[in-house]
Amino acid sequence: MGYNVYVTRRLPQEALDMVRNACETVEINPEDRPLTRAELLDKVRARDGILSLLTDTIDEEVMRAAEGARGFANYAVGYNNIDVPKATELGLVITNTPGVLTEATADLAWTLLMATARRIAESDRFMRTGKFESWAPMLFLGADVTGRTLGLVGAGRIGSAVARRSRGFDMKVLYCDPIANEALEKELGARRVALDELLAAADFVSVHVPLNEQTHHLFGAEQFRRMKRTAIFVNTSRGPIHDETALVEALRSGEIAGAGLDVYEDEPAMKPGLADLDNTVLVPHIGSATIWTRTRMATMAAENLIAIVKGEKAPNCVNPEVYEKARGAKR
Ligand code: GLV
Ligand code: GLV
Repeated sequence: MGYNVYVTRRLPQEALDMVRNACETVEINPEDRPLTRAELLDKVRARDGILSLLTDTIDEEVMRAAEGARGFANYAVGYNNIDVPKATELGLVITNTPGVLTEATADLAWTLLMATARRIAESDRFMRTGKFESWAPMLFLGADVTGRTLGLVGAGRIGSAVARRSRGFDMKVLYCDPIANEALEKELGARRVALDELLAAADFVSVHVPLNEQTHHLFGAEQFRRMKRTAIFVNTSRGPIHDETALVEALRSGEIAGAGLDVYEDEPAMKPGLADLDNTVLVPHIGSATIWTRTRMATMAAENLIAIVKGEKAPNCVNPEVYEKARGAKR
């Protein structure tokens, strides 16, 4: 007991109760907004552990400000906001919330795929502005989904869940991943191909890779050029995986037919021109935003935070080397 922790944003109550039951001092950002950099640097001081969000940049400066802390429990499956190698070097445990958001995120990828294919956002605006005068043979013609080819860039948990949903649409599934996914191949007849082959053949390209140096701008002008002119691009992973300026250009020039986006390169901002394009469906990073999922993510992050401060093995540690490495080497 006697643990002192900081939570960078209000979370579902169940999770806060868990943290309060386990820790003596629990401070929570009272504002409904991300902390400023100065606040973050100030608030992490003298804590045993911190529960962070994907909107908090946890770099060396923050880690050094959090001197004495045992680690950071990130409320997200993605942890590109944290300099993990540096954390490991400094002996800090980092955790994430995998698994519980897989299905919700796959649902959203499909929502964007369907909404973009059938021009739902554009049609909705049309209705609301009173433009619907009569049924018309050529009104809002979109793309077929059934029987088409789905190209998944990344076939981990989320990519696989997206693939499984394609069964109801009799789709052919191609995927590209450094690791072969035999279950997917057996279950769906999915075929693992090189990225260029996938881009050339897919009618829908959906991205499910983590953001890192290898995946930053994985989609640029060249990749959009390789896609079919009728293809739709869907990104529910991380914005910097696409070069958004190149994406705007590809959408504008008709190099690809549309895009459904949950994430943005300079989140929360959009690159100039994106919002003016009718062939996009744009939502504000809500992939995991269901009541059940956000509650499970929060209780999972709370469990991890509690394990971190107690010095117990955290269930979802992303840098387990930290436990083996330099146990005594106190910062
Ligand atoms: C959300 O984007 C997450 O990584 O959990
Ligand atoms: C994330 O959970 C993934 O493996 O796709």
